[in-house]
Amino acid sequence: MELALNEPKHGYYGAGRARIGAHGDFVTSPSLGSDFAALLAPQLLTWLASIPRTVPDQRLSIVEIGPGEGHLARDLVVSLRGSDPELLARIEMVLVEANPGMQRRQQALLQEVDDLPLRWCSLEDLRSSPVHGVVIAHELLDALPVERLIWRDGSLQQQWVELDPNGDLRTTDRPLTDGLQHEINRVCSQAGIQFPPLDAEEGWTTEWNTALPDWFAAVSTAVNAGVLLVIDYALEAQRYYTARRSEGTLMAVRAQQAGLSPLDQPGEQDLTAHLCIEVVDEAAEQNGWLVGDQAKQGETLLALGLAQRLHGLQQLPGQHLAEALQRREALLRLVDPAGLGAFRWLTYLRGLPEGGFSLSGAPGSSESRRD
Ligand SMILES: C[S@@+](CC[C@H](N)C(=O)[O-])C[C@H]1O[C@@H](n2cnc3c(N)ncnc32)[C@H](O)[C@@H]1O
Repeated sequence: MELALNEPKHGYYGAGRARIGAHGDFVTSPSLGSDFAALLAPQLLTWLASIPRTVPDQRLSIVEIGPGEGHLARDLVVSLRGSDPELLARIEMVLVEANPGMQRRQQALLQEVDDLPLRWCSLEDLRSSPVHGVVIAHELLDALPVERLIWRDGSLQQQWVELDPNGDLRTTDRPLTDGLQHEINRVCSQAGIQFPPLDAEEGWTTEWNTALPDWFAAVSTAVNAGVLLVIDYALEAQRYYTARRSEGTLMAVRAQQAGLSPLDQPGEQDLTAHLCIEVVDEAAEQNGWLVGDQAKQGETLLALGLAQRLHGLQQLPGQHLAEALQRREALLRLVDPAGLGAFRWLTYLRGLPEGGFSLSGAPGSSESRRD
C-alpha cells in the first residue's frame, strides 16, 4: 500500500497522478465546492481566537496535512477574507505534503493566493519551531498504509503481497510478527477492544493501522498548542471489529468506482481503509493529545449553518440558477447520512487550557446546546 500510493515515480500520490474531484477518481468534501471551507472557517477562527498568546502578536498557523489538490487551503483563505483584521494579521497557512508530485499541483492551484502568508514544509521542519494553531487532516489518515489481517485456524495471520510466477501480484499469509501482535494486544487492552471478535469466522479479514503512532508522534513535535481536526471515514471498534464486517474496509477506487481489487493496477488507483476511532484516540493520547469533541459531519455542518446557506441560495439572481443548483446538490451531499454526512470529525487538543475548544454539533458541546 505504501509503494502503490507513495512510491515517487510510480505511486498514485507519489507521482502526482491522483485526481480528486467530480472529474477525477473520487470526490472529497472540499472538492465539491467552496461551501465546505466557508462552513469550516468560522469554527477554525473560534479556536484560533481562543488560543492563549505567549507573546503579544503570537503567530497562529492553520496547518493542513495531506492537502491533495489544495482545494481546502485555497477556499479557506478566501473564506477568511473579511474576518477580524487583528486576528487575520496573525494567521499563516502551512501545507504539509509528503508527495512532491502532489505538492507541485497544490503550488500551481495556490500560486495566486496572496491574502495570507503561505508556506509548504514537513512536520520535521516544524519541529524546530512548533506552531500555535489548528491542524487539519482531511481524508489523510485513511491513506496511511495499513496491515491486512486474516483469521485462520484459530489465529491471526498477516497478509503479504508477492509476485506469482507470471509476474502478477498475489497475496500470501504469514504469522503475525511479534512486534505487531504485541502492539495490537497493548492497544486493545488499553482501549477495551475485543480483537478479533469472539464470533469471527474462518477467513474474517480486517485492517490494523500501524502508521498512526508515528504520525501522531510527528504531529506532536510540530505543535506547541492547538487543536488537531481529523475528518475521515471512521467507525467505533464495535462496528469495525465485528464478525459481520468480515471483509474489512480496505478499498480501491478509480474513476468514481469503488470495490475494485486492491492489487489491480498499482499506482493507478487510490487505496484507502477506514479508521477505528478508539485506535486513533489511543495513538493520540499516547502522544500527548487530549481527546476532544467528536461528531458526525452532517451534525457539525448543520450546527455551523449549512441549512441557512442552503436557504440563502434562493436569494441568488435568476442568471445564477445553474450555480445555485450545483451548490444545492453539493451541500446536500455534504450532510447525506449515507455518504459524506457520516464522516467523523475528531478533535484532539494539546497545550490548551480547558474549555473554549468545543466542536459545533458535537453532543454536549456548548454550540449544540445553544441550538
Ligand atoms: C486522500 S488524499 C486527501 C486530499 C485532500 N485532503 C482532500 O480531502 O481532498 C491524501 C493526501 O495526503 C497526502 N499524503 C499521504 N501521506 C501523507 C503523509 N504521511 N504526510 C503528508 N501528506 C500525505 C497525499 O499525497 C494526498 O495529497
